[in-house]
This record gives sequence, C-alpha cells and structure tokens, in this order.
Amino acid sequence: VQPPLLAGQRVLVTAGPTFEAIDPVRGITNHSSGKMGFAIARAAREAGAEVTLVAGPVHLRTPRGVRRVDVQSAQQMFDAVMAEVASATVFVAAAAVADWRPAQPAERKLKKDGSGQPPALTFVENPDILATVAALPRARSGELYCVGFAAESHDLLAHAQAKRARKGVPLLVGNIGPATFGRDDNALLLVDEREVVELPPAPKIALARQLVAEIARRLRGV
Ligand code: C5P
Repeated sequence: VQPPLLAGQRVLVTAGPTFEAIDPVRGITNHSSGKMGFAIARAAREAGAEVTLVAGPVHLRTPRGVRRVDVQSAQQMFDAVMAEVASATVFVAAAAVADWRPAQPAERKLKKDGSGQPPALTFVENPDILATVAALPRARSGELYCVGFAAESHDLLAHAQAKRARKGVPLLVGNIGPATFGRDDNALLLVDEREVVELPPAPKIALARQLVAEIARRLRGV
C-alpha cells in the first residue's frame, strides 16, 4: 500500500478573517467564513499530516485530529504563526488578513459627544504574514513549502501571477468567482512557476483534497 500523501509533513494553515479593534466593543473585520482554510486543514490531516490551524474569529468546528490556535487580530495571527512555523514543512495562508488596523484602539468605548463630528480613525499597516514566512531561510531553501491565496474581482490569472511573485511563494491559489465568502462551493486556479491548473466548481472539501494532492505532488518534485 502507498503511504498517505502527506505522511511525515507538518502543515500550518491560517484561516478566517481577522478582527481589528476600534475600542473595547467595536472593530473592523471581513466576510471570510474560514471554510476553505478549515477544509484544507481537514484534508491535510486526512492525508496523514500533523496539522496546526491558526484561526481568526469563525463559527466552525475544529476538524478531527487538528490542533487549533484561536486569534483575533492580524498581529496575533502573525505572532501565532511565527511561534509555530519553525516546525512546519508546509504553510498554507488561507486567512483573509486585514491589511490595516486602527492605529490607537481607544481604551474606553467611543461616545457621541453631541458635536455631530464623527471620530476620525487613523490606520497603520498590518504585518504581511505570508510574505514574512516566505522570506524565511527555510522557505527560501524549499524546506518549508508556502502556498498563498488570492481573492480578486477581475483579471484573476494576471493578479495571481503577480501576487505569486510579490509574495515570493512557489504556489498561489486564486479563488475563482468573486462571491466565495461563506459559500460551501468554490473553484480554484493554481499558479506555480510551471503551469496553471484549474480546479472546477466543487464543494470546498473536495477542492481542498485536490489542492492537498497538488501540494503533495510538488513536494515530491513531480
Ligand atoms: O496581499 P493580499 O492580502 O491580497 O494577499 C493574500 C494572501 O496573503 C493570502 O494568502 C493571505 O492569507 C496572505 N496575507 C497574509 N498577511 C497579510 C495579508 C495577506 O498572510 N497581512
């Protein structure tokens, strides 16, 4: 019998949105459901990998056999990934990380002051988790295989190819179709240095299993 596809691999996955605090009761987030990342974690585990899932705020059950670390903000996700990545052999960044966060979250709930003037929010950029991991020596040497995602509204192939280069990752996965957030189905476009592979519309768990097989093939160098 063949060993499972990802036997001996340690896979680290990010999933879901992040939540960036404005004050103790408010914040900024996005519509990511985490379903694609959770499906990838489940599929990687089924394929024999040891899997750690760093999850933003989502309403999903932890896939069986997967170790889960819950976070809220992009900075917390960054810290959790950096704490885990040294032992990983594959990193899949499926999270929809906020690009910016309020520069100075208020310590107390912001109140209307009667002036009719809304508060002004100023933002700072969050760290790019994927680009930081992809620049690590273990990633550059190929010991750690990095996979990024792209959600685009148009020109997916061109954006996916550009994002692959910008992030410095061997494999970039584009979400085909603008409205995949929260849905159970998706379609994917895989872009690496050699080829473009289209995975047609299917349930996210089926796509996750195909993606895992594509990653395993590339790990074997075929
Ligand atoms: O730059 P953009 O957000 O479009 O890139 C998307 C890819 O980068 C996804 O794989 C996402 O998980 C990852 N990313 C990240 N940290 C960020 C922003 C994006 O890991 N701060």
